[in-house]
Amino acid sequence: MKVINYLRISVTDRCNFRCKYCMPEGVKEFIPHPEILRYEEISLIVRAFATLGVNSVRLTGGEPLVRKGIESLIEELSSVEGIEDISITTNGYLLSEKAPSLKRAGLKRVNVSVDTLNPEKFAFITGSSKDALYRVIDGIAAAIKEGLSPVKVNTVLIKGFNDDEIEEFIKFSEEFGVEVRFIELMPVGGKFFSRENFIPASKIRQLLEERYGELTPHKTFKKGPAKSFRVPGTKAVVGFIPSVSEHFCHECNRVRLTSDGKLRLCLMSDREVDLKSLLRSPNFTFERLLSTIRGAILLKRRIDGVEALETLGCSRKMFTIGG
Ligand code: 5AD
Ligand code: SF4
Repeated sequence: MKVINYLRISVTDRCNFRCKYCMPEGVKEFIPHPEILRYEEISLIVRAFATLGVNSVRLTGGEPLVRKGIESLIEELSSVEGIEDISITTNGYLLSEKAPSLKRAGLKRVNVSVDTLNPEKFAFITGSSKDALYRVIDGIAAAIKEGLSPVKVNTVLIKGFNDDEIEEFIKFSEEFGVEVRFIELMPVGGKFFSRENFIPASKIRQLLEERYGELTPHKTFKKGPAKSFRVPGTKAVVGFIPSVSEHFCHECNRVRLTSDGKLRLCLMSDREVDLKSLLRSPNFTFERLLSTIRGAILLKRRIDGVEALETLGCSRKMFTIGG
């Protein structure tokens, strides 16, 4: 029986970057504030999930660090019985100033998105400034210094854009002692995705093996879709997330909560369960929340099987789900 032990929570759909593959050009419409879950509401949902076996939560966005008082949410979630691991996926722009308070609040570890190590290309792909890459790298260093461990780097593979930088990423992994995870570009960010800019993760693995020799499996921190490897002759550790070219539904251990309170059972299926309406209804009880979530998890077990093929489709944009 499939175990759901991991909940990804998008705390906001707003972001201080505009990555080309995530936010469609010129996006201006964000979820209105009253529709965004309050921290007390998120906390109740996490308590319910913890009762049902979730022990690990990850905060995502948009950009989670742009939401006010995110430390107070982390502190609150750290006190939930059964939650052992709290992590965050961030673009890293605010990380150097926030790493100490995040650590104090109880954050365990961070994943930072870095798609290129070239400052001009970085400004282009993220729609931000030329100094943004340096700020993000400072953020990575600050997270390491605070012991937010392990720090991992997420790199979305884009053909003709960053596939010539694989050696630089290997050097970066060695220098900072961080795992670099190559993620396949997914067709969920509007018009950016195309066959022309998609590269399968297996191609990068092949390039690495031609250059460095056969990759050897690395003991992973946790089960998940990423497989980690050591790169021979270097201190680098790399991972691959073949989200598009391989199906790992059978080992999927997660569900996602959108910032407007919908439980999304599968990234690639538009079936969602509305938890916000339940939380805000006069008939709300914790028992009802528990039974709604139990029902949703049962539904997920079916969706991940044959049904995934039928309901496959993601009409949401990535910044409203959080990856
Ligand atoms: N394809 C692959 N990864 C994506 N992300 C956002 N949009 C996409 C996409 N279309 C990634 C970001 C970040 C995480 C939150 O999701 O790079 O690492
Ligand atoms: Fe923001 Fe992350 Fe989307 Fe980039 S990928 S626009 S940093 S939410």
